[in-house]
Amino acid sequence: ITADASYQPLEGRHVLVTAGPTWESIDPVRYIANRSSGKQGFAIAAAAAALGAEVTLVAGPVYLKTPAGVKRVDVESAEEMASAVKRALPCDVAVMVAAVSDWRPKEYRDEKIKKRGSAPPALMLTENPDILTNLAAGKDRPALVVGFAAETERVIDHAKQKRKRKAADWIIANDVSGDVMGGDENTVHIITTDGVENLKEMPKAEVAMAIMTRVADTFQAKAAE
Ligand code: CTP
Ligand code: CA
Repeated sequence: ITADASYQPLEGRHVLVTAGPTWESIDPVRYIANRSSGKQGFAIAAAAAALGAEVTLVAGPVYLKTPAGVKRVDVESAEEMASAVKRALPCDVAVMVAAVSDWRPKEYRDEKIKKRGSAPPALMLTENPDILTNLAAGKDRPALVVGFAAETERVIDHAKQKRKRKAADWIIANDVSGDVMGGDENTVHIITTDGVENLKEMPKAEVAMAIMTRVADTFQAKAAE
C-alpha cells in the first residue's frame, strides 16, 4: 500500500477488523465454509496501520500474510470470532469484513460420521451470533461501526436495509455477483446516513485505502467540532 508515511491521521486510534470466512465443524474431518479469501479485510487492516492506527485483525482461516504493524488473532468458527472481538475491545473503529457463516451444525459429532446405512445424514443447522449487531448494540460500542454487505442482487437496497437492521454507522455494499470473492479487484458503495458514495472498480488495496481515509476524515471532522 502506498501511503505518505508521514500522514498518520489514525495515530492513537484502535481499529478492529474482522476478515476471512469462518469454518463451522461438522465432525473432526468436515466443516461448512464459504468462498471468502480474506483479501479485502487484510487490505483494510493494512491501510489502517499505514495511516497510523493500532490495529487488531481477527482473522478466520485464510492463506494470507499478516500486514505490517498489525496484531493478528486467528480464529476458526463464528463463536470463536465473537469471543476474540469481545476480548479486543475497546476500539474506536470496527470494520467487520468477515464473511461470518450464518449457520453452524446444531451438534458437533466427536467421531467421523460414517457412510454406513442407506440414507445420507440430515445436517441440522443453528444460527450463529451476529457479531456486528451485538457489537453495535453493546455497551462497548465503538464510535464508528462499519459493516460490509456482500450482495448478488439489489445491492444498494439490501445494504441500506442492513445498515438500519444492524445499527451500523456505515455499510460497505459489495457486489459479489462476479468473481470478487478471491479476486484482487472490488466494486463497493459506501452507505452512510448522508447517502451513497459509489467507488469505481479498483484493486482491493485501493478500496481499503479509500475507506480508511474516509474513516480518518470522519474522526478529524469530529475532533474539530
Ligand atoms: N456479520 C457478523 N456476524 C454474523 C453475520 C454477519 O458480524 N453472524 C457481519 C459481516 O461481517 C458483515 C455484515 O454483518 O459486516 C453483513 O453480513 P451479511 O452476511 O451481508 O449479512 P447478514 O445479516 O448475514 O444477511 P444475509 O447473509 O442474509 O444477506
Ligand atoms: Ca450472512
